[in-house]
Amino acid sequence: MDLMQSIIVRAKANKQRIVLPEGVEERTLLAADWLLAEEIADLILIGKPEVVHELAASKGLTNIEKATIVDPENHLKIEAYTDLLYELRRSKGMTREKASELAKNPLYLGCLMIKAGDADGEIAGAQNTTGDVLRPALQIIKTVPGVSSVSGAYLMFTQTKNYGENGLFVFADCAVIPNPTAAELAEIAVVTARTTRAIAHFEPRVAMLSFSTKGSASHAMVEKIVEATRIARELDPTLQIDGELQTDAALVPSIGLRKAPDSQIAGRANVLVFPSLEVGNIAYKLVERLGNAEAVGPILQGMGAPVNDLSRGCSAEDIYKMVAISANQAIGIKANLNKQA
Ligand code: ACO
Repeated sequence: MDLMQSIIVRAKANKQRIVLPEGVEERTLLAADWLLAEEIADLILIGKPEVVHELAASKGLTNIEKATIVDPENHLKIEAYTDLLYELRRSKGMTREKASELAKNPLYLGCLMIKAGDADGEIAGAQNTTGDVLRPALQIIKTVPGVSSVSGAYLMFTQTKNYGENGLFVFADCAVIPNPTAAELAEIAVVTARTTRAIAHFEPRVAMLSFSTKGSASHAMVEKIVEATRIARELDPTLQIDGELQTDAALVPSIGLRKAPDSQIAGRANVLVFPSLEVGNIAYKLVERLGNAEAVGPILQGMGAPVNDLSRGCSAEDIYKMVAISANQAIGIKANLNKQA
């Protein structure tokens, strides 16, 4: 069974309630119909019910009948959600009027449903920017205990089976933190390792990437990666991690041996942590487009519940996969909370 299939099997075995705030978007509806037909998740579509039904009927999407459809303007629990948002954000200057307006915004409504325990996760971004999807989640759901910042990882299914984990890599941060501090980079490494174990199901070997390998260049940017590696080791002493490494030293065994002979990670890395969002975002798109890799993500990590963002260029299949991944994340987060309780 390949990785995506095992993610789908796990989602089906423990169905989660996933909100799709862009319920009247065509690719979202196609994905929803597919997910409902295969019983992968219980779906909550946000949108005017008559518009959802009309669009579904015009496309012959009969399974949409199985979804819960929520009218953002006229929702039974809108007063309770408004109160919840007001309580959460009044210290930040939000008025009740503003809370009432925002609670009808599908992106806020989805997060409020999760916060109130009425849903387990959310996927949006086929129509909205990353910032617009993330902001309500950061304001309402916030990070999981013990993690201070949310970041975004991609599963990269490459053709180069001799590198990484039989060609599979996890890349981060490719989606959220524009210019992370050393401490934030360290946390990105540790949290990405957790995502790797939970979603990609292999043991992470993390390379902290740079334009320098083990002191070959000296610059403040290099020092940041060295410091981030040190902090990550402190945060998780069991983590297999090394840096600073150039990409060739991280990936290619013969080059790793030459440039970093004492490293346990050089030439064997399967998780790549990039020094900034600029590098991470550009790198994943280059590998995807020029290297013919399949990029699945961004998988947002560190959030108290899964809220995942889509690229506006996404396909219905991307949405289908991200719902299954979000369901897996929700199952993992709940299992961890139960363990801690
Ligand atoms: N983790 C946790 N909390 C965060 C983070 C983070 N990474 N970033 C911001 N926050 C919190 C803040 O502390 C604040 O909390 P508070 O209001 O309770 O005090 C809240 O979120 C809002 O913070 P702002 O700084 O006002 O939010 P901002 O407008 O900066 O937005 C955002 C944050 C959206 C994540 C911003 O950093 C951003 O736009 N990042 C880049 C996203 C992007 O464009 N990615 C590339 C494309 S993705 C792709 O290609 C698929």
